[in-house]
Amino acid sequence: MTNIEPVVHDPMLEVDDLHVGFESFDGFSDVIDGVNLSVGKGEVVTVAGETGCGKSVTMKAILQLLSEPPARVSGTIEFDDMSLREMSDAEFDQIKGERMSIIFQDPMSSLNPTFTVGEQLTDTAQFGGYGDAGILEYTRRKYFGSERAEARERAIEMLEEVQMPDPENVMDSYPTQLSGGMRQRVLIAQALMNEPDLLIADEIGTALDVTIHDQILDLLQNLIDSHDLSVLMITHNLGIARQVSDRVYVMYGGRMVETAPTEELFNYPKHPYTQGLIASIPRLTGGAMAEGIDGSVPEYLDPPDGCRFHPRCPYAHEACVKDRPQMRSDSAEAGVECVLYDDNRAAPFDAPTLADTRNRMGTLEDESYSSEEVYND
Ligand SMILES: Nc1ncnc2c1ncn2[C@@H]1O[C@H](COP(=O)(O)OP(=O)(O)OP(=O)(O)O)[C@@H](O)[C@H]1O
Ligand code: SF4
Ligand SMILES: [Mg+2]
Repeated sequence: MTNIEPVVHDPMLEVDDLHVGFESFDGFSDVIDGVNLSVGKGEVVTVAGETGCGKSVTMKAILQLLSEPPARVSGTIEFDDMSLREMSDAEFDQIKGERMSIIFQDPMSSLNPTFTVGEQLTDTAQFGGYGDAGILEYTRRKYFGSERAEARERAIEMLEEVQMPDPENVMDSYPTQLSGGMRQRVLIAQALMNEPDLLIADEIGTALDVTIHDQILDLLQNLIDSHDLSVLMITHNLGIARQVSDRVYVMYGGRMVETAPTEELFNYPKHPYTQGLIASIPRLTGGAMAEGIDGSVPEYLDPPDGCRFHPRCPYAHEACVKDRPQMRSDSAEAGVECVLYDDNRAAPFDAPTLADTRNRMGTLEDESYSSEEVYND
């Protein structure tokens, strides 16, 4: 394997060497430690990993939503060849909600309970995600401008597109009057209202029951195709990652430890953490019992030296504790950050082979990982 980062041609989003930490009275939490990530145009990419591994912090850093201080952020974030971290707030406001849209992790707190769904969606249709009008101009256009009726029509159209039952009635409802699935549809309608190029979705539908969850995923997949979206999807559910994405990043302890096209990752996971995650999926067939990964994600106030996974890794040895492993790749789209794949390694273990992986995890080809089968929390 060569010592290079995997390369995505024609990227829509490119994150390079992202570091995020937080100051607190207890000290400095070094959460995101040099993340590289890219989403190609028209590509659906998932970031998967256990709770607390830094998925939402990465997403918030991309969207410049972290207050600095207490956060400390460094690295480059490019969207369609524009450097987001070098833009003024006014310049970034033209992109947020218009060209780049987000669905947040919690559908309830993402909607304002004091305004009707109609007011919130019509505002998004009329002013874009954040709007560039001053407060007086905003008020004039909102209450007296002729385009208000047009924006309301557009909002209803979008509710129909997300297959909302009785959209007119929903427009006059408050978010608390809607079910979880309906609120999730409202958020999808809001995110796609202004035809963004990139959609970032954080744990979409994971708070919903299984049947509604599957309906939301099917809907999202159809919308991704019909709107020709590039997507960065964040999830702790590997079933979702397998169902929707072209390529997966596996995140652990604030680092991307492996990336590969989806089927390659599931059929031949290389990193011991990826193998552990896949082995921990309960299956209905194949006979192999689900195995957990002992331990938990690292403490960011004092993270482990070297490979952050070493306290939990069955292959850990001296070299793992010394230096951070380099990302190795054997194709343009895949890479793994583990010394077992280092050409010059002096390790007591060989890199796990396909046969080792199969023995450990049972036979994967016959298995279907629907989201119902995956309970990874
Ligand atoms: N504002 C903050 N200040 C200090 N620490 C924070 C802050 N935001 C997040 N963290 C810490 O960063 C770590 C990663 O959090 P993050 O929310 O990114 O996890 P996640 O991967 O999204 O998990 P989940 O699957 O539960 O959503 C956690 O240990 C969290 O406590
Ligand atoms: S670098 Fe070492 S500790 Fe880390 S995953 Fe590889 S073998 Fe395990
Ligand atoms: Mg999260």
